[in-house]
Amino acid sequence: MSAAKPLPHDAAALHVTGAARYTDDIATPQGTLHLAFGISRVAAGKITTLDLSRVEAAPGVVRVVTAQTLPRDCDVSPSAQDEPLLARDNVHYVGQPLFMVIATSHLAARFAATLAKVEIAATPAILTIEDAMAADSRFEDGPRIYTKGDPVQALSRADQTLTGRIDMGGQEHFYLEGQAALALPQENGDMLVHSSTQHPTEIQHKVAHAIGKPMHAVRVETRRMGGGFGGKESQGNALAVACAVAAQMTGKPCKMRYDRDDDMLITGKRHDFRITYEVGFDGAGKITALDVTHYTRCGWAMDLSLPVADRAMLHADNAYHLKDVRITSHRLRTNSQSATAFRGFGGPQGVLGIEKIIDHIAHHLGQDPIDVRRANFYADRVIPQESGVAHDDRPVPDVNADNASRGADPAPADITPKDSDAQTTPYDQPVTDCIINAMTERLAQTSDYRERRSAIATWNAANPVLKRGIALTPVKFGISFTLTHLNQAGALVHVYQDGSIHLNHGGTEMGQGLFQKVAQIAADRFGVPVDAVKITATDTAKVPNTSATAASSGTDLNGMAVQNACDEIRERITKHLAERYQTQDVRFEDGSVFVGTETLSFAQAVMSAYENRVSLSATGFYKTPDIKWDRIAGRGRPFFYFAYGAAVTEVVIDTLTGENRILRADILHDAGASLNPAIDRGQIEGGYVQGAGWLTTEELVWDEQGVLKTHAPSTYKIPACSDRPDVFNVDLWDAPNPAQTVYRSKAVGEPPFMLGISAFMALSDAVAASGDGYGDLQAPATAEAVLAAVQRATG
Ligand code: MTE
Ligand code: MOS
Repeated sequence: MSAAKPLPHDAAALHVTGAARYTDDIATPQGTLHLAFGISRVAAGKITTLDLSRVEAAPGVVRVVTAQTLPRDCDVSPSAQDEPLLARDNVHYVGQPLFMVIATSHLAARFAATLAKVEIAATPAILTIEDAMAADSRFEDGPRIYTKGDPVQALSRADQTLTGRIDMGGQEHFYLEGQAALALPQENGDMLVHSSTQHPTEIQHKVAHAIGKPMHAVRVETRRMGGGFGGKESQGNALAVACAVAAQMTGKPCKMRYDRDDDMLITGKRHDFRITYEVGFDGAGKITALDVTHYTRCGWAMDLSLPVADRAMLHADNAYHLKDVRITSHRLRTNSQSATAFRGFGGPQGVLGIEKIIDHIAHHLGQDPIDVRRANFYADRVIPQESGVAHDDRPVPDVNADNASRGADPAPADITPKDSDAQTTPYDQPVTDCIINAMTERLAQTSDYRERRSAIATWNAANPVLKRGIALTPVKFGISFTLTHLNQAGALVHVYQDGSIHLNHGGTEMGQGLFQKVAQIAADRFGVPVDAVKITATDTAKVPNTSATAASSGTDLNGMAVQNACDEIRERITKHLAERYQTQDVRFEDGSVFVGTETLSFAQAVMSAYENRVSLSATGFYKTPDIKWDRIAGRGRPFFYFAYGAAVTEVVIDTLTGENRILRADILHDAGASLNPAIDRGQIEGGYVQGAGWLTTEELVWDEQGVLKTHAPSTYKIPACSDRPDVFNVDLWDAPNPAQTVYRSKAVGEPPFMLGISAFMALSDAVAASGDGYGDLQAPATAEAVLAAVQRATG
């Protein structure tokens, strides 16, 4: 059987024609009320006056609610219960909701929210990493430290050492559809909530708590999001809770959507980091010791900052085998938006840290960075996994053999294991699926890396003002939630009498194509065309206790749960037909069911089962096997497997202005045995562009008072179509996952984001071409940052 097909996204036509319904498009009943928050304009302090008389008197206002007039304490935090829906006495950042307005229209609510008379006795705000370190303002008692080997001694023995630092900015999610929720009161106090969320179960949990009901009284439905990117894992809680509480108070449907400026001011973003390092290495650039420190600006509340900072530590090695290493992580509490999940979940920051270190070493030694990268890679080795659950009856493939049969280059002789010892990550997980050497080899060839590098050197020698640069960077990304219990999923599948299939699972659709992939799996299990499968909205009443659709594991988890549910039903039908036709030979293929010498249509087979009182509905469940993780000790096997990729980017900079452009990108990415190569390509292209945007044009600027100045597209520049590389070649590695994932595919949502780092490293290479010194480029590499680096390089 094969589910793999390059089919379009199930809603592609709806997306491009505008017919796709988002939360804000759902027809609302007459009398629906609209909400807006009044927000703090001060970063830290105590509220001394909150005079809402003008707000209450404004046209269309039905009610104004403060922390004091909320019926009960409403917490909207996903973790530490440290986020009151509305500020109680103290404020913690510019943008914090102070009160909510319930009005007859969206605009009336927003207008009224500006009319409050608020006085706040300001206290000193902790805004920067320096402020937070000086004040020891942090989450957890002290820094978290993971150590492997003896980095201190190894550093003292190192041939050569370098110290350095990289500051990297945060990132606004800029989902096209902003945060939105709609709460509809039901009979007997129950609540139905439509929410643009990656995590319907958490919305259910938070709303139930806020309205004082058990979870069974709340149903949350999410058909799709217009992008989430991690920004809707927890940041939708406030809107859904506000709507549900207002709906309970007024008895009316209540809806809230943030205006874009409010969305950017109120919600959390990617964590900005400072990473400092001391690295020891030999003359070939092989790292012999590393001491690296992460400073993470978490914002005012805990949100998901601890696991984000953990994942940054878990990616401090990227694709490099480090033996004597210490990774220290400071999780700093600051008076800013509570930084949250964003594609890669800390991984990109950790990876950029080590890539910067490699870049620094290569520059110091005067070597091509690709050679320094190679000198440090984990050795390629692919060990098929024998363990795991028996959901997959197919034999474990010999990955290398299969790969060769698909036309991939056989592994070159020089990339067979270099180290006799078992290679493990700094957190002790064996790396048994590494393919990065072979991937890099192939990509360097297909992108003509060496030839272009020397052509660029010639070009640069002839061009005094414009300079080109090129870089190849790898990614190795760990797949699984590091909070082990989240690695579970459920599904509910119904087959109707006419042979049509109704598919439910706990995953949410945010444009990534999860629903399409999972529908392909369901269709394949029954041997029917994919349009026999109805994709439905995610609904907490159909599949309960779900995890967020996050950590790229949507298909791994929900796809397997759906496979299990479908197989259960198929086996019941098979058993029935085997008895009826007295044969063991029952196959579901091409829309038919072959039973011995008989051929039935799928619908006939289903009808026969129905008439014989066979249940045609089943739940499915899946949990990722073989993972265990101690986050305090930093030891274990947090990831079921790794996904790999590599990218080559060529850029050009103007050394007089710092302006820069991506000219060409070549990508080779590992999606395992891809379930849908068209969708996976989309994820790879989008991830790369979003990653490159993070490190080039996307700059968040807060002023000295802690006010975010970049809160609209006029001042915050995400990549546009014209910023896409002129030449953009994307290839899939396309070898089955040695781990027993669904159809041997690999997660693809986040890993390609880190391929954008090649654009940053290419800019660093172009900067180096402008002078003799190390430009020490900082991120994001805006025109100003590039110009500053050029000035350092030309000294
Ligand atoms: N792709 C689109 N188009 N829109 C999104 O919001 N989110 C990303 C990624 N790709 C996102 C996306 C993030 S942060 C994650 S974790 C994964 O998709 C989640 O979906 P998956 O687990 O089904 O890959
Ligand atoms: Mo993605 S940051 O795990 O939602």
